[in-house]
Amino acid sequence: MSGSFIDQLSSLGKQSGNLREAFKQDANRAARYRTTACDITLDYAKNLIDDTSWQALQQLAADSKISSLRQQMQQGAAINNTEQRAVWHTRLRQQDVTGLMLNGEDIGQQITECRARMAALVDTLHQQQYLGYQGNAITDLIWVGIGGSLLGPQMAVEALTPYHCSPVKLHFAGNIDGAVVSDILAGLNPATTLVVVASKSFGTEETKQNALAIRQWFTEHGADKKAIAHHFWATSSNISAAAEFGIEQKNILPMWDWVGGRYSLWSAIGLPIALMIGNQQFNQLLAGAEAMDQHFFNAPFAENMPVIMALLGVWYINGHNCQAQALLPYSHYLRLLPSYVQQLDMESNGKSVDSNGKTLSYATAPVIWGDAGTNGQHAYHQLLHQSALAVPADFILPLKVKHPLKDQHRRLAAHCFAQTQALMQGKTLQEATAECLAQGMSEQQAQALAPHKVSPGNKPSNTLLLPELSPYYLGALIALYEHKVFCQGAIWQLNSFDQWGVELGKQLSGPIYQALTGNSSHSFDSSTTALIQQFLAAQS
Ligand code: F6P
Repeated sequence: MSGSFIDQLSSLGKQSGNLREAFKQDANRAARYRTTACDITLDYAKNLIDDTSWQALQQLAADSKISSLRQQMQQGAAINNTEQRAVWHTRLRQQDVTGLMLNGEDIGQQITECRARMAALVDTLHQQQYLGYQGNAITDLIWVGIGGSLLGPQMAVEALTPYHCSPVKLHFAGNIDGAVVSDILAGLNPATTLVVVASKSFGTEETKQNALAIRQWFTEHGADKKAIAHHFWATSSNISAAAEFGIEQKNILPMWDWVGGRYSLWSAIGLPIALMIGNQQFNQLLAGAEAMDQHFFNAPFAENMPVIMALLGVWYINGHNCQAQALLPYSHYLRLLPSYVQQLDMESNGKSVDSNGKTLSYATAPVIWGDAGTNGQHAYHQLLHQSALAVPADFILPLKVKHPLKDQHRRLAAHCFAQTQALMQGKTLQEATAECLAQGMSEQQAQALAPHKVSPGNKPSNTLLLPELSPYYLGALIALYEHKVFCQGAIWQLNSFDQWGVELGKQLSGPIYQALTGNSSHSFDSSTTALIQQFLAAQS
């Protein structure tokens, strides 16, 4: 995106009109700014757009690299240029992968084999035929991983709670905070516990330390090397490191260089999802994502949901200087979606150089945050409604639910729609004053209180309606956000598939850890030194 586009977006941004007025003047607005994909509806009418700005944004998409990059992605080009890797997570949800080749390798066969091995493991666990080292059926599985090797399965498992059908209980161990593993192990028996170490690199410190702690627990309970090997699995592309840890080759499910961690829930990283909802429903998750891929690959930009959402995001960041984006699922089961999209979006596009390493002259990814509605309405929605900060929000609502409390679902939907309406229309001083007077206040009391009740309105939001929160629609929803992030990366001309920024903290933690063991002469800045000393003093 050139500097002149930024100028155009910010000058158009300043001319954005009033949404309440726009709805009054155009009875057709909702129909004009609405699209569907895979039966998911996106209502984007409550955005600060009009014909002029929307046309300019459409032109931005047409002039951008979305089309060419999308084609390169499909062809398996190394669009992750800093790591020289293809970006092929979409292939993982492609039903027919026969003959799929990449750099002379039969990827189709590898995917098919991996799917079959995952499915077999899930079936064995469901049938309670995986017996532990003392001959008892496995009752618990600990999934050890972090970032992309955790957030996706954790979110999807939670989202699909009504579909759970596993006799095996699932536990996620991500954080290096020893409290996580200690708490999990406290309730478990090693003889009936299976462990999967999920790490593409098999070098991530948190995962390694948690895996070592669990292995030690097995040893302390009398498990020998053979027993441990029987109880440990891995999903990794670093076979030698997994083998060195003591995991047998037959227990290692593959990961590939052409799948980024945050795009990996469609691979063996999705094993916990398949375990909890069964193989058939896991295939539905893949099918929904594949349907969204087909929409993204084929729909014209004017109707293309990921493209539309990407353009709106760029519009607010570069045309309105917004720095945040709220993600507000009106679904208890989707409460982990904001954390998942945080990694997806912020780790992908939180960059300040383009794919050639040239410094960008514009802002990129937003700060993604949010939680399930209606909880947030009694907390941070105050800021959304009345603060001077503008925070565009995505509201997500499944239309149908499986639980029996249908009236509560109606009330939940009412709140969801009311929030988008309130953000859009706001409340004027005149309306606030009239409201106070109608409540019996004196003229003077009304004038004193009314300014506090004013909501400026004109706050943008999208509403996404899912027919229901099934594996199929969840798959489509996740793929939608993946492609949105992809399009934004293409518009901003950066590499959405590396994450070099996370390395510095990892590098610096090594010498600090050494200092915290008391065995280091390394010198640090005075603040870090003081923190280390205080920590050391507290341990003695
Ligand atoms: O923190 C960076 C990161 O590399 C993420 O991109 C990745 O998802 C996570 O760590 C876990 O990596 P791995 O699967 O290699 O353990």
